[in-house]
Amino acid sequence: MRFEFSSGMLVYRMKEGVREFLFLKKANGRLDMPKGHIEKGESAQEAAIRETREESGIETRPSGFFRKDVSYRFLEKGIMIKKRVTMFMAEVPADTEVRISDEHAGYEWLDIKKALKRVRFKNAKDLLRGVEGYIGREEKMDSLNSEYMKLPPAEGWELSRNFVPGEGAVDARIMFIGQAPGAEEDISRRPFTGRSGRFLDRLLRIARLERGSVYITSVVQFFPPKNRVPTEAEIALCKPFLKRQIEIVEPKIIVLLGALAAREMLGIEGISKYRGETIERDGIKYFVSLHPAAAIRIRKNIRVMERDFRKLGRIAGGNRKRHNGRRVTPPSSSSGTVSPP
Ligand code: URA
Repeated sequence: MRFEFSSGMLVYRMKEGVREFLFLKKANGRLDMPKGHIEKGESAQEAAIRETREESGIETRPSGFFRKDVSYRFLEKGIMIKKRVTMFMAEVPADTEVRISDEHAGYEWLDIKKALKRVRFKNAKDLLRGVEGYIGREEKMDSLNSEYMKLPPAEGWELSRNFVPGEGAVDARIMFIGQAPGAEEDISRRPFTGRSGRFLDRLLRIARLERGSVYITSVVQFFPPKNRVPTEAEIALCKPFLKRQIEIVEPKIIVLLGALAAREMLGIEGISKYRGETIERDGIKYFVSLHPAAAIRIRKNIRVMERDFRKLGRIAGGNRKRHNGRRVTPPSSSSGTVSPP
């Protein structure tokens, strides 16, 4: 058995309100997306950008956190090849010019209906449906965020007026919920980018989870003055938005970072009894841990959280084949043996 790794890009444009995907046509008429081998020293994303440039003349970068692995096997000269293709997506302006290489005989922009009729392999069809579903979730999240950021009233609001949106894959299998943004997040407008965030990044590596493959948010998404705990009234205003985020992402596992998140999501007071444990409710596994800030304040909590995240890694890894969770190493595969996309 030989392993091969490729990556590619689902390039799309919006033309008169319709989403159209770019397909390159082989000499035999078969449609393909821009994709090819990942070269030595290249990341999957770098290879997807390069292949898109070489095969279509389009200079683009992946948009959002979309990333899907497609795996399949085939026989070549008597050797079984197991191939994994990592696909990204990128929106380009409607008037983007396509300049194909010698490798292809032409190109077509196809809407989803036509594309599903024309592509041959099931996993390519699944990929297209997946990207449509992903964009649908992104649109819902964008519209939720536009509503949420308008929450601060003109008077009597003590939290910052800077909204810190949740971040990550909107179809993530694992969601992390913290308390509220800190001073650094208030400036960067990204969750967990300060000291707590750097520690969370380390914990994610311990759990062998990529930051871009999970969704990170907080109970309250505006910085409380002097980093105080949000009040009951502030939580009451923000929590409905958190619930809607959960409905959009539909995570299988929710990691509750700290007592406030655990209380708000599970109604438990004090987390010492539940820390490191999983509680199943309404089909979601809630994993309770400390807030990373607690480990920065009290050093013995560092070890405690590291242990929790090792356990989380095992829980997340146990069912990763059935879902789209990605782990840092070894290379993941989110599907079984199927035909090439
Ligand atoms: N702590 C949180 O609880 N949330 C953030 O977004 C950042 C730090």
